[in-house]
Amino acid sequence: MKRAALSIIFLLGIFSPGICASTPEDALIKWIRRCGGTVDLDIATVNDEGLRGTVAVRDMNKSQIAVHLPAHLAVELGEGHVTSEENAIKLLRLQMQNQKWNQSMLPYWESLPRVGASLTKQTYPAEPLDLLQDRTLAASIVVHGAYTKNVYDGGKPSLVEDFQAEFPGVSYQTFSHLTSLVSSYAFLFPDEGGVARRMMLPLVDMMNHGDGSATNVEIMQADNGDLYAYTLREIAKGEELVHEYNTGIARNDQSLFHYGFVREHDPPRLVAQDMPAGNLYDPTFYTEDDYEFGGRLVTKAELARLEGILRSFPTTEREDAQILAGKSGGGWGSVLGGKMTLTPLERMFVKYRLLRKQALAHIIQKLKDTLLITTEL
Ligand SMILES: *[C@@H]1O[C@H](CO)[C@@H](O)[C@H](O)[C@H]1NC(C)=O
Ligand SMILES: *[C@@H]1O[C@H](CO)[C@@H](O)[C@H](O)[C@H]1NC(C)=O
Repeated sequence: MKRAALSIIFLLGIFSPGICASTPEDALIKWIRRCGGTVDLDIATVNDEGLRGTVAVRDMNKSQIAVHLPAHLAVELGEGHVTSEENAIKLLRLQMQNQKWNQSMLPYWESLPRVGASLTKQTYPAEPLDLLQDRTLAASIVVHGAYTKNVYDGGKPSLVEDFQAEFPGVSYQTFSHLTSLVSSYAFLFPDEGGVARRMMLPLVDMMNHGDGSATNVEIMQADNGDLYAYTLREIAKGEELVHEYNTGIARNDQSLFHYGFVREHDPPRLVAQDMPAGNLYDPTFYTEDDYEFGGRLVTKAELARLEGILRSFPTTEREDAQILAGKSGGGWGSVLGGKMTLTPLERMFVKYRLLRKQALAHIIQKLKDTLLITTEL
């Protein structure tokens, strides 16, 4: 069996209004069963932001199969280490060259976020980016959007001679949407020759990310090509099933940029760019442990650096928390452009900056305590 090394999916931006009969979710599960697969989980809303995920429908033991997906239901995109724009072009080719297959995959396409609802670096709208209070992250998102546009406009002839000629009638919006889908939903599987392959996996791609010990499911491919999501430990009925997409998204700026979600970490975790030498693409070589007694980052200069970052934001943690609680009536209407209610995307951006500040405050306090002990010794 091959293990999905860098399985990358997520699904955010999909705000399901509640699951009832004949939803795309129901249709997807029925379709997989009809095609010879098995499904032993439910699709449900798993947090206050309306995030969709998968949950156990009963107590499960270790090594049980939550999903068995026959190989022919997977979408094979080929070699894995290419850009999302190239993968989107491959997906378009597959859909165009085999209309019958494309039709047969309808329940899967319908389960994916619609144009406008899929949110990753290629598709974030520019207008609410200010809400992040993070110029570096906002700038990286803008650069990515511009790269995708450039590919669409034929500015990358190595990818496709003339995008418009090969895909007449495909709009830029459709292209950036597909680019975002393949970038956030496609799994990467190692191959024998060391050439990783990228695949889209219906339903399995609805499992959210959980890192480290939170992971309770693993995705494997059998030698015959069939895919399995199986449990790594006992799981109680109602518990969410999560697997680790990618070890490079431990921090909220990274997960927001690549997959469109943020998470509360316990204890709080700094965003990658607030770590010394950290950035969106590479894990930093420091960890929060370096702020512990005797750690490499226990210095007054580091304390001053972190305090400087925390002071630089236009709103406080308290104000952000009030905005999220819907009590934004007073002095910071300007921060929201005069708006009183937030879209789910705007909520996520405000949550991002709140979690970032909470992590900074947490580490600053820890560092102060540690420095005090260090000075007293
Ligand atoms: C889980 O394991 C226990 C103990 O071996 C067994 O009694 C139970 O039937 C198993 N449950 C499932 C759902 O397989
Ligand atoms: C593939 O099928 C979907 C769903 O029916 C449709 O929206 C899309 O246009 C099709 N793609 C192509 C290239 O025909």
